[in-house]
Amino acid sequence: MRVLVTGGAGFIGSHFVKRLLRAGDDVVVLDKLTYSGNRANLPPDVEFHEGDIAEAADVARAARDCAAIVNFAAETHVDRSILSAGDFGRTEFRGTQTLLEHIRETGARLVQVSTDEVYGDLEAGGSSTETDPLRPSSPYSAAKAAGDLLIPAYVRTFDVDASITRGSNTYGPNQYPEKFIPLFVTNALDGEALPLYGDGRQVRDWLFVEDHCAGVEVVLRNGKRGEIYNVGGGDEHENIHVAEQILALTGADRSLLRSVADREGHDRRYSLDTAKMHALGWKPEMRFEDGLRATVEWYREHRDWWQPIKSGEYREYYARQYAERLANATSV
Ligand code: NAD
Ligand code: DAU
Repeated sequence: MRVLVTGGAGFIGSHFVKRLLRAGDDVVVLDKLTYSGNRANLPPDVEFHEGDIAEAADVARAARDCAAIVNFAAETHVDRSILSAGDFGRTEFRGTQTLLEHIRETGARLVQVSTDEVYGDLEAGGSSTETDPLRPSSPYSAAKAAGDLLIPAYVRTFDVDASITRGSNTYGPNQYPEKFIPLFVTNALDGEALPLYGDGRQVRDWLFVEDHCAGVEVVLRNGKRGEIYNVGGGDEHENIHVAEQILALTGADRSLLRSVADREGHDRRYSLDTAKMHALGWKPEMRFEDGLRATVEWYREHRDWWQPIKSGEYREYYARQYAERLANATSV
């Protein structure tokens, strides 16, 4: 099948591209190459178009003759969405609508890669199911929810062929080091502070990147029109325990772990009910302990990938996000 992968130069998208290539699919990538997009994440010979999913001409050029589009393109970092509204609304909403208009014209299939964050947090226990109401709590998750809402509307009104996946917190090689795990791993390897937000007792449901991609592939091939599928790791851990595992795996000193001012509006816990995906034959294969060890090894061996990123724009962002927090940090 000829498939357009949008956001294919980012973390999860690039693993997905390589997965489809291994399966023998004909893959095309459309990516705007924002700060988190990296052409080096992709095989050099893959068909690549630099462009914006919110621009109909860019989409039409890249999607020519494609039977399906898998949309990973997004502004993806919650903390950045709190610092500045940036392109979150444009990419998540306008971009998704542009892709829907394209499939409305061409009849291609769309898989929209979304997030468990659209359900909001679940402090009291239990897990979110696909029919739960959307209660996003950050500008990022609200923008993702806005994009998601377009999908059933276009399916109902125009009978387009589209499905949504909602994945949980994903980790693994090639993740931009602004997110919790790669930030803590690379800081620990560099002997820099690990800024733990608040009491560190927030819970995330961790999913290895290959398992996430396997779930999206199952939905691409076997998902039903108009359906939503939760792709969760079922591996829930408190942030402080993940940080302690990172210290142990990197051999870094515990004094690096610093308690800093909490994220505004910080969601306490996410958890996904994945019964629907299990019925499609998918389940995560990688245990968190093994995936984290493999991830730490990858970052240890690939300084050439992440050290150049930790300069320029990254340093400016880092200072805005962490300078004051770290100046007022306390020990954990
Ligand atoms: P990422 O930031 O690593 O990659 C995003 C990619 O999208 C980048 O290559 C970027 O250049 C590209 N992009 C951004 N705006 C674009 C635009 N307007 N047009 C074309 N390309 C654009 O993010 P990721 O972690 O790989 O996330 C990929 C998708 O998976 C996102 O939709 C995200 O919401 C979703 N998701 C991520 C996680 C996670 O834990 N990382 C979990 C669940 C769902
Ligand atoms: O749940 C899926 C979502 O997971 C995706 O939709 C998002 O794109 C992705 O960024 C991620 O969102 P989170 O906000 O959960 O991930 P993040 O890695 O930013 O943070 C994970 C937890 O770690 C969260 O409770 C905040 C905490 N944290 C994060 C950073 C960056 C810290 O304590 N310190 C930090 O410096």
